[in-house]
Amino acid sequence: MWRNLSSTRSRTLKYILRVTISNSGVLIAVIVLGGAYAGVQVAHRLLKYTKPQVKDLKVILVSKNSHFYWNLAAVRAIVPGILSEDQYARPIAPGFAKYPADAFEFIVGSAEDVSTANKTVRVKVGADGSERDLTYDYLVVATGTRNAGATDVPWKNNGTHEEITALLAETQQKVKAAKHIVVAGAGATGVETAAELGFEYGNPKDAAAKKEIILLSADKEVLNNDSIAGNVAAELKKLNVTIRGSARVLSTNTLPDGKTEVVIENGENIITDLYLPTMGMTPNTDFLPAALLTDKKFVDIDEFYSVKGTDNVWAAGDVVWKPRGSFVLADKQAAGVAKNIDAVLKGKAQTPVKTIPIDVLMVATGRSRGAGRMGPVKAFSMMVYLIKGKTLGVEKLPAWVDGTSF
Ligand SMILES: Cc1cc2nc3c(=O)[nH]c(=O)nc-3n(C[C@H](O)[C@H](O)[C@H](O)COP(=O)(O)OP(=O)(O)OC[C@H]3O[C@@H](n4cnc5c(N)ncnc54)[C@H](O)[C@@H]3O)c2cc1C
Ligand SMILES: *[C@@H]1O[C@H](CO)[C@@H](O)[C@H](O)[C@H]1NC(C)=O
Ligand SMILES: *[C@@H]1O[C@H](CO)[C@@H](O)[C@H](O)[C@H]1NC(C)=O
Ligand SMILES: *[C@@H]1O[C@H](CO)[C@@H](O)[C@H](O)[C@H]1NC(C)=O
Ligand SMILES: *[C@@H]1O[C@H](CO)[C@@H](O)[C@H](O)[C@H]1NC(C)=O
Repeated sequence: MWRNLSSTRSRTLKYILRVTISNSGVLIAVIVLGGAYAGVQVAHRLLKYTKPQVKDLKVILVSKNSHFYWNLAAVRAIVPGILSEDQYARPIAPGFAKYPADAFEFIVGSAEDVSTANKTVRVKVGADGSERDLTYDYLVVATGTRNAGATDVPWKNNGTHEEITALLAETQQKVKAAKHIVVAGAGATGVETAAELGFEYGNPKDAAAKKEIILLSADKEVLNNDSIAGNVAAELKKLNVTIRGSARVLSTNTLPDGKTEVVIENGENIITDLYLPTMGMTPNTDFLPAALLTDKKFVDIDEFYSVKGTDNVWAAGDVVWKPRGSFVLADKQAAGVAKNIDAVLKGKAQTPVKTIPIDVLMVATGRSRGAGRMGPVKAFSMMVYLIKGKTLGVEKLPAWVDGTSF
């Protein structure tokens, strides 16, 4: 209660200051960092459900990418000729055009520094790298994660729209040219990537199109020995994917002929035409004060998804990694954060953010099957296919990016 009163008072003060200083008419600025599943949803929800009552609200969305990248489909998008670009990438701005012009601003740029003391975000914009200092009243961090290590795989968008689409095109060319492909890391991304490649090239009608697909798992079994590991292995076998267990990658070397030598823990080397690493994710939090982060550099939040030690900063999605990165979790967390900001702006109490009660794991194994479980209960292959593998969720993109989903 005290916190609410106090922040109302400081808002009033800010109101007076702003009106005196500028007259710009912007009274309550919410800055959202990150234009993907979590950030775009928070921005739409605030404009749709909070702005009508909180007239002075302005939402500023800042993201490296002008287009929403439906990265859940990245594993399929690397196979040439299957998905068209507009199925996995859509411009963000048009979906926000329906809101009052002074209510929203979209800045394509990279957040470089946040000062919670000054309530400012320094953003690098444009190709010339010029900087803009933005002032917020409330801040939402939804900058997600990027690949740990490898910069040349398209699992996440770590740059502009043009960069990710160029990287996808380049990866498709490499896939097309390769006869032998090693996918390293047998988490969900590695399994799905190997399966998509196996589906297309493992046992093709045209024998000349055949490619050898190898999946390297650091653990004995895929998916960190999960209870569905056996089912996944059986599905991959049908797609002619070879799984190598207990095969942690130590290093790789590019050979003079362009092939890659993959050095495995047991001392064995594999020479391949194309090496696709899928191991690990790093949080995009380099621009935040260390005091806001956990020891693993994710944003440290409380049950309201409010950043600990602050009363005007929230975070949602992979950047909180609670308990892990997941689109389903990011979705629920973003809805919860938008609701809590709405509550604070209306002087009401925040509510703890609830996500999903059971642990669900579903992996697509090519374009006709899947494997999964809901809690400990295994799901039928056909069910996983229908829920997930059939489309990898791309049909959700248009309504996500224009806000009609929320
Ligand atoms: C290949 C793959 C397949 C997946 N499939 C599934 C699945 O089937 N089901 C599932 O539940 N989960 C899946 N996931 C996980 C899912 O992708 C994530 O949970 C989801 O992307 C999280 O969304 P997010 O909004 O938190 O952040 P992200 O998707 O990580 O996006 C972060 C956004 O922030 C932007 N950004 C980053 N840094 C800055 C900065 N400094 N300034 C401005 N903007 C910045 C980025 O450009 C990006 O737009 C998959 C992940 C991968 C890698
Ligand atoms: C806050 O603003 C003051 C005055 O502009 C500046 O000197 C200081 O460096 C800023 N603090 C941070 C952490 O950016
Ligand atoms: C992400 O982008 C940053 C800044 O452009 C770059 O320094 C870094 O190497 C990239 N990382 C990955 C994994 O792509
Ligand atoms: C997977 O199982 C092997 C033995 O079967 C064990 O050595 C390894 O630690 C397990 N890995 C995980 C992540 O549980
Ligand atoms: C795997 O590939 C081999 C060689 O091309 C082929 O003979 C075999 O039928 C394939 N197996 C499956 C299950 O597709």
